[in-house]
Amino acid sequence: MFPDANSPDLILVHPTPEEKLKTWELSYQNWGKALSKSDYIGREKYLATVPLTAEGGISYWCLVDKNAEPNNRELYATCETIRKRALLSNNGAVSDVAVHAIGSVFCDPKYRGRKYASRMLTEVGQLLRTYQIDPKVTGRGQVAASILFSDIGKKYYANHGWLPFPSAHIAFQPRKSTSNDATPLKASDISELCALDVASLRKQLEQASDSKTHMALLPDYDTIQWHHLREDCMSRGIFGKAPEIKGAIIGEKGARVWAYWTRGYYGPIDNPESGNALHILRLVLESEVDSQENADKLKSILTFAQSEAEAWKMVDVQYWNPTKLITDLLHKTGLEYKEVDREEESITSLMWYGEGKGTTDEVEWVGNEKYGWC
Ligand SMILES: CC(C)(COP(=O)(O)OP(=O)(O)OC[C@H]1O[C@@H](n2cnc3c(N)ncnc32)[C@H](O)[C@@H]1OP(=O)(O)O)[C@@H](O)C(=O)NCCC(=O)NCCS
Repeated sequence: MFPDANSPDLILVHPTPEEKLKTWELSYQNWGKALSKSDYIGREKYLATVPLTAEGGISYWCLVDKNAEPNNRELYATCETIRKRALLSNNGAVSDVAVHAIGSVFCDPKYRGRKYASRMLTEVGQLLRTYQIDPKVTGRGQVAASILFSDIGKKYYANHGWLPFPSAHIAFQPRKSTSNDATPLKASDISELCALDVASLRKQLEQASDSKTHMALLPDYDTIQWHHLREDCMSRGIFGKAPEIKGAIIGEKGARVWAYWTRGYYGPIDNPESGNALHILRLVLESEVDSQENADKLKSILTFAQSEAEAWKMVDVQYWNPTKLITDLLHKTGLEYKEVDREEESITSLMWYGEGKGTTDEVEWVGNEKYGWC
């Protein structure tokens, strides 16, 4: 007997630890294939304990019958949300806000097609509007939006209010390089660079003066570190070791170019169909000018990434939504790359909680790079 998806008996609650485990057992088929099941479940448990997600940073949700007992009830649909820090700018007035990122939207195969996932998303979209608001904590006075990265195209989530945003990337082939002027970045180098990057992003938004609202997720250390801890966890399961090189940097202070990256594993490492990719999480130019010098630095960073991709058996290097400046510099590097406009996977999608409709005409998503993904 299946309840109607509109039934008032269906409510959104947090699953118990046992119920989370049950969901991971099922979702392994969809998202765990690069790992053994126990490594996949271990990763999910571990990633709930790191700085970005600990102490309420991550929340788990399930749609259940309100009359049923925890641990003894059907889970009609499940998902999780991660609270992220973000900046909003209206005519240069910048405020710190929260954005909730939704992930792992899942429906047990036996319940699919009955609109339970749709009902859950409707509830989640409404609930997140005010979720975890705390005016006493910087950045928690307002929830600007909820976001997600759809792997099932643009229509499903748009029908529920999450509008598709630019979802393009450029892709470079893996290539061994014999020498490179860039310096590798280790985990211990990242936090200082993140702090500089966040400060300069804030300045950039203060200078944003067109009529749009500008929104940027913070590329802060907790966010970048989450990707790297996830990568370490998976690499140990797959390669038996974690990668030490987390990015690369080149140039003199004030004119440096750097990038952090992460290895994304989606299936068996020796199968090109897996689409395992080295994702550039964030690319930073300290001096934002279109010069041959910057192009040369960019080239060093990208060829370093290509070389890492080759060493870690990745299919390609991907960089999301390059700005006009990066595109102009890329032309000067002479590097070969492919432009991909994604239609199905990782469609960046946004539900706006502020004034207006939150369309791409109204909201500029600044720094729509892989670091925002979860
Ligand atoms: C995606 C998922 C949660 C949808 O659950 P569901 O029970 O089929 O969805 P609902 O019953 O709420 O909605 C049905 C609608 O979703 C559409 N839909 C379902 N799965 C879809 C998919 N993989 N791609 C595109 N549309 C899909 C159906 O076509 C149907 O459309 P209609 O309303 O126009 O008829 C479920 O298929 C699932 O758990 N998939 C595996 C995990 C996954 O891919 N999650 C999404 C990650 S972004």
